[in-house]
Amino acid sequence: MVLTPVRDVFGRPMTDLRISVTDRCNFRCVFCMPPDRLYTFLPRDELLTFEEIARLARLFVEMGVRKLRITGGEPLLRSEIEKLIAMLARIPGLEDLALTTNGYLLAQKAAALKAAGLRRVTVSLHALEDPTFGRINGRGVGVQRILEGIEKAVEVGLVPVKINVVVLRGVNDHQVVELARFFKRPHCVVRFIEYMDVGTVHGWNMEKVVPAREIIERIDRAMPLEPLPREYAGEVALRFRYRDDGAEVGVIASVTEPFCGDCSRVRLSSDGRLYTCLFASEGHDLKGLLRAGATDEELKATIASVWSRRTDRYSEERTAALRQGRPLTPVPKVEMFRIGG
Ligand code: GTP
Ligand code: 5AD
Ligand code: SF4
Ligand code: SF4
Repeated sequence: MVLTPVRDVFGRPMTDLRISVTDRCNFRCVFCMPPDRLYTFLPRDELLTFEEIARLARLFVEMGVRKLRITGGEPLLRSEIEKLIAMLARIPGLEDLALTTNGYLLAQKAAALKAAGLRRVTVSLHALEDPTFGRINGRGVGVQRILEGIEKAVEVGLVPVKINVVVLRGVNDHQVVELARFFKRPHCVVRFIEYMDVGTVHGWNMEKVVPAREIIERIDRAMPLEPLPREYAGEVALRFRYRDDGAEVGVIASVTEPFCGDCSRVRLSSDGRLYTCLFASEGHDLKGLLRAGATDEELKATIASVWSRRTDRYSEERTAALRQGRPLTPVPKVEMFRIGG
């Protein structure tokens, strides 16, 4: 079968699908779901079933998607998630199957996830000190439990384990070098992410963002680095390796060096909406179509039509506005915990 991948208005292919399996989370990270707010989560029947997710994922793969990432909320809260992983792992043509988690349930789930066919995990951990991490996760959860999850993931072979650190100036940026040093080891890659203005979490401003260049300079001063080439087009992280042992570290500069130019990521929310940008205001309702009895061909035609009309480049627009000193036009944005980053 010769596949002509669908391309958007700027010629970007759709190769990477991020599937959120729940909007619930046991954390209340300050940059995602501030702890002092009341949240209403989706009722169960609004969530896509595993069969619905697997069917849609197969259609996306038939249309050119090569990589699936499972996200949340916290995806390990969805019961029997390993059953979904097993269904997805069987899709012909899929090249990568990963999951992003906060690590709280990882030690107990890692072996079952690996056995079901998951290739690797990304774990979020924003500090190595309990008070700082507990403050960021909004639930006072300590570091040890997450480290045990990471250890278990390495042990069962969900590697490389990527560790995502969201850096907030004045909150956890004093831990950057320590985190880099701690994860300078085989099978682990730590990635420092610039704090982004996602969702409706208020209080974001440039002063709280530590530019990726600054992060790299701080690490390089302590442990000399050299840049690595991109592994694939559309990769979000800028990669570096330590000159002494070749271990890897990365930065995700979505604010200071946005990467919309080759963004090939499409997102499916847990209630079955299709989003073509992390900062989109609205999604396209695939669940409604699916539950109304649409055929595979009809679903594929809808997905192709949504993608082919796509013009999203939010991060580039935001950064251009900031550079020119223009105020940011407030736009409604989907919540991070609903589409999983
Ligand atoms: P690999 O497959 O391991 O390269 O991972 P990934 O970078 O695709 O996935 P991950 O979920 O770990 O991405 C890291 C973080 O980068 C996300 O959680 C977001 O904070 C940010 N990010 C990922 N994709 C996008 C995107 O399309 N736009 C923006 N602005 N940020 C993104
Ligand atoms: N800015 C940057 N990264 C964020 N994440 C959540 N909210 C933000 C934000 N405002 C991260 C999570 C996780 C990934 C899915 O995105 O910590 O690592
Ligand atoms: Fe934190 Fe992720 Fe939960 Fe948001 S979804 S509160 S970033 S653990
Ligand atoms: Fe892609 Fe939107 Fe992120 Fe730009 S801001 S990289 S278009 S998801």
